[in-house]
Amino acid sequence: MDAPLLLPVLLLLLSASSFATAKLSENYYAKTCPDFLNIMQDVVFEKQRDQQATAAAALRIFFHDCMVTGCDASILIAPMEGKPKVEKDADINEALSGDGFDVIIRAKMELEMKCPGTVSCADIIAVAARTLVKMVGGPYYKVLLGRKDGFVSQASLVEGNLARSNFSMDTMIKMFEAKGYTIEDMVALVGAHTIGFTHCKEFANRIWDYKPGVQTDPTLNPKYAKALRRLCANYTTNPGKAAFNDPFSAGTFDNQYYKNLLNGLGLMTSDTLLAMDHRTRPIVVKFAKSQKAFFAAFTSAMEKTGQIGVKTGKNGEVRDRCDRFNLEE
Ligand code: HEM
Repeated sequence: MDAPLLLPVLLLLLSASSFATAKLSENYYAKTCPDFLNIMQDVVFEKQRDQQATAAAALRIFFHDCMVTGCDASILIAPMEGKPKVEKDADINEALSGDGFDVIIRAKMELEMKCPGTVSCADIIAVAARTLVKMVGGPYYKVLLGRKDGFVSQASLVEGNLARSNFSMDTMIKMFEAKGYTIEDMVALVGAHTIGFTHCKEFANRIWDYKPGVQTDPTLNPKYAKALRRLCANYTTNPGKAAFNDPFSAGTFDNQYYKNLLNGLGLMTSDTLLAMDHRTRPIVVKFAKSQKAFFAAFTSAMEKTGQIGVKTGKNGEVRDRCDRFNLEE
């Protein structure tokens, strides 16, 4: 690009990004929907009380949304016949649990009755995840508000933005650094695996088919491997079979996940690598020793996450329904 052109473009980019940050604020809905946070609290509490899988489901949805085209509720768009595949259709998003989508839809319905056309689905996801993390014992962190919902949701944009459980540590670090995270942010964020579950297919090779002549991944605690083999025995005929990510305190957001990693109880290869790689192991040890240190790092990393690719003004809309763009009506 020519030098004279570069400056105005740079200025435009700078003003656009600071504009986005300036528009977000904790009390964005103070005048337009003063009950927003109370409504969220009530809806989320009721859903989590009835279905304890909700917290993990909503937290994962939030992360998967923010990593692909930013925190803009693109993950909520429902597939439509004859249209290109949406984010939700991408194979890595297939296991996102219905309870997470359900709590967001319920909150949106409630909010549309009280403050029609006001609260974005992107903000609902962010607040639902924060409220649920706190509800199951995790830290309270700041969620700035005023995100708009995006106009794009494409399965083809997913690849390369979300890590897979068989990725190397180099690839995972590169992926997180590309989003502006530090290695400590990454280790703290994956601590989200202190809640929720993972389907057997994600770790089946570690317990049955590690490599020729070796059945079990030697980095896996043998007793744990045996228990997992029992649990997953018929997972191919029953693909819904899943194991808790943290077998000791599955429903509580705490630092037990890191203690597990140090004892060979990491479920996925990507979990186990955190305790083995020289760049991440010291951080795992720190978080295993101190829940306070984990919570502080998780808080900071989640606040960063909530700012990724945020749309404001005309770059987005407040959807009437979270699962479709307004212009499709
Ligand atoms: C190295 C990065 C990561 C990898 C490879 C990874 C991979 C996975 C996989 C494969 C599952 C199991 C899906 C299933 O079988 O149902 C899972 C579950 C989960 N992940 Fe991650 N993840 C990563 C990072 C994160 C981050 C950063 C968060 C949130 C901040 C997160 C939150 C969750 C939660 C809460 C669950 C449980 C979901 C449920 O129970 O519905 N993960 N992850």
